Amino acid sequence: MSPLFKSLTLLSRRVAVAAGVRHHSSLITELMENMDKKATWDRFYAENRSRASTFKNFEWFFGFDSVRDFVMPPLQQQQQQSHPDALLQVLDMGCGTSALGPSIYRHSPHPVRVTCADISPVAVRLMQEHVQAKAIKPHSASSRLEFVELDCTHLHEHFGPSSVDLIVDKGTMDALLRSKGGKGKAGLVLRQCLKVLRSSGTLLQFSDEDPDARLLWLETEAQEQGVMAAEVGVQEVGELRGVCYYCYQVTPRCIIQQ
Ligand SMILES: C[S@@+](CC[C@H](N)C(=O)[O-])C[C@H]1O[C@@H](n2cnc3c(N)ncnc32)[C@H](O)[C@@H]1O
Repeated sequence: MSPLFKSLTLLSRRVAVAAGVRHHSSLITELMENMDKKATWDRFYAENRSRASTFKNFEWFFGFDSVRDFVMPPLQQQQQQSHPDALLQVLDMGCGTSALGPSIYRHSPHPVRVTCADISPVAVRLMQEHVQAKAIKPHSASSRLEFVELDCTHLHEHFGPSSVDLIVDKGTMDALLRSKGGKGKAGLVLRQCLKVLRSSGTLLQFSDEDPDARLLWLETEAQEQGVMAAEVGVQEVGELRGVCYYCYQVTPRCIIQQ
């Protein structure tokens, strides 16, 4: 089985099981093709919630413990270059109901403002209710945590240019790239990330996409009139249920305007 087919099969099973549509192949296809749509995710999170008696974070893959060694070093690096009291701006892009953003807020020794953004108002409301009920305490007293409904093709409406220190994306670009009309949106989102990131900032994409495909896509999309607008790298995160996951690191490059 090709890696792409294997990951698509796993992905469809994940969507199907969570949405309670185990054996309905046409519905699975419909969900798979529409992972760039708000309505798909509203339904996904609403159905997921309705099947459990209490709220539980849903991780598309891997939790904070598996990715913390990728997330914390760029924050530390940013902190060393900033004023000690400065709030580092972190964005969990397409946060869903994952515990990643709240965990960064809880564990970062540096003061952070963590913005967890998602296109689904259902996911955002569930997370707001959850953190309010749990009263999660940050490591640094001045840290902040917020959840916002936001279409990440419009990041510039929420964040100023060069204002974000770290963007984490766990499975969001995958969802866009694998849906029928999402490829164009994925390119738009990448360019928005490069616009709002500080020149010393980092975008981390956690994904099961093969490096041959993702690195080529990132390098192609990060070109502006033939000039590379970003440096791109990759590290292996580990295996989960027979699938290998990667962390793609994207850092903006200063383009000198002629
Ligand atoms: C594969 S899920 C990953 C969720 C979460 N990051 C995790 O690890 O569990 C993709 C998420 O991206 C969100 N999403 C899709 N398109 C989006 C967009 N244009 N802007 C913001 N969020 C989007 C979906 O609502 C969904 O929560």
